[in-house]
Amino acid sequence: MKAIHISKAGGPEVLELREVPNPIPENSQVLIKVKAAGVNRSDVITRSRTNPEGNAFLIPGLEVSGEIVAIGSDVKDKKIGDTVCALIASGGYAEYVVAESSHCLPIPEGINVVDAAGIPETVFTIWFNIFHLAKLKRGEKLLIHGGTSGIGTTGLQIAKALGCEIFTTAGSDDKVAFLNKMQLGKVINYKENAFEDVLKDEKIDVILDMVGGDYTQKNLEILNKKGRLVYINGMKSMTATIDLSTIMSKNLVLTGSFLKPQTEAVKAEIAKEVEKNIWPLFKSKDIYPVIYKTFPLSEAADAHRLMEDGKHIGKILLTMD
Ligand SMILES: NC(=O)c1ccc[n+]([C@@H]2O[C@H](COP(=O)([O-])OP(=O)(O)OC[C@H]3O[C@@H](n4cnc5c(N)ncnc54)[C@H](OP(=O)(O)O)[C@@H]3O)[C@@H](O)[C@H]2O)c1
Repeated sequence: MKAIHISKAGGPEVLELREVPNPIPENSQVLIKVKAAGVNRSDVITRSRTNPEGNAFLIPGLEVSGEIVAIGSDVKDKKIGDTVCALIASGGYAEYVVAESSHCLPIPEGINVVDAAGIPETVFTIWFNIFHLAKLKRGEKLLIHGGTSGIGTTGLQIAKALGCEIFTTAGSDDKVAFLNKMQLGKVINYKENAFEDVLKDEKIDVILDMVGGDYTQKNLEILNKKGRLVYINGMKSMTATIDLSTIMSKNLVLTGSFLKPQTEAVKAEIAKEVEKNIWPLFKSKDIYPVIYKTFPLSEAADAHRLMEDGKHIGKILLTMD
């Protein structure tokens, strides 16, 4: 099969299209003929930092959509011919990939198969961090930094649909205009206004942050009593100086997670919960994946360049035909 291979740690040019052996599904796995794969910031980080060991090849890609063409001996809940979207550990930039059967979900009603490739990574991340760890409830206030990211466009739509009041930040007028057009809450251009000043009286209940660094204390300052600050990255800086009295005076909770290293059982549990709680929101058209651009697999390097350029809004996908 054709697959994109990280030849060595480096820029987008290290992504090479190669012929590699097809993967074989083990007992609880399925083999998916990939229709499309999502491109995530994590793939860019993996590409820039990870050297494949020895003769091993490393295929990036954490989410796909496509058709199941083979199943392992223990798989009872899926069958050959099912069309699914799936969260995977790696290997999505390829014509075929194996996935745990329990990490595959049906294509949500009303969403086409290609666009569905942009759903699993964001929806699993949002569910686990905002609803499981930070326990956001209907009627509470949520701030998501990076509102036009794949994560932001998904998380804001879900929280709005579930009855929360939403706030977000973005770094250009174009991005602010897009979020306003989608009616995704109060939007702050953080390059023009200090978000902590604009939101100082809002008493935000939950903040999802991917920026880190000096945002941390500012986030703590604008949280409500018993507020929750949840981290999924620290793009500005992974370290921060904070005033512990801010936490103690308001009973705040700091948490966060990486999705990739969670156990198979945890991911299977998230899959069940999102199918129950989030899939109906696709059917009712309250939410949809925001797709910015699709590239053919052979142009994966251009897809990474676009993501690193940072002007995109929503998801970038690779398609196999
Ligand atoms: N922990 C996990 O399991 C997990 C899972 C999925 C994603 N993530 C993280 O979530 C983030 C979004 O992922 P994605 O794939 O959706 O990426 P993406 O579409 O490339 O989005 C990155 C966002 O970060 C914002 N940003 C970058 N630098 C910033 C800064 N210095 N200050 C404020 N905002 C900044 C950008 O918005 P502006 O242009 O408006 O600044 C952009 O919206 C990434 O950091 C990714 O690593 C974590």
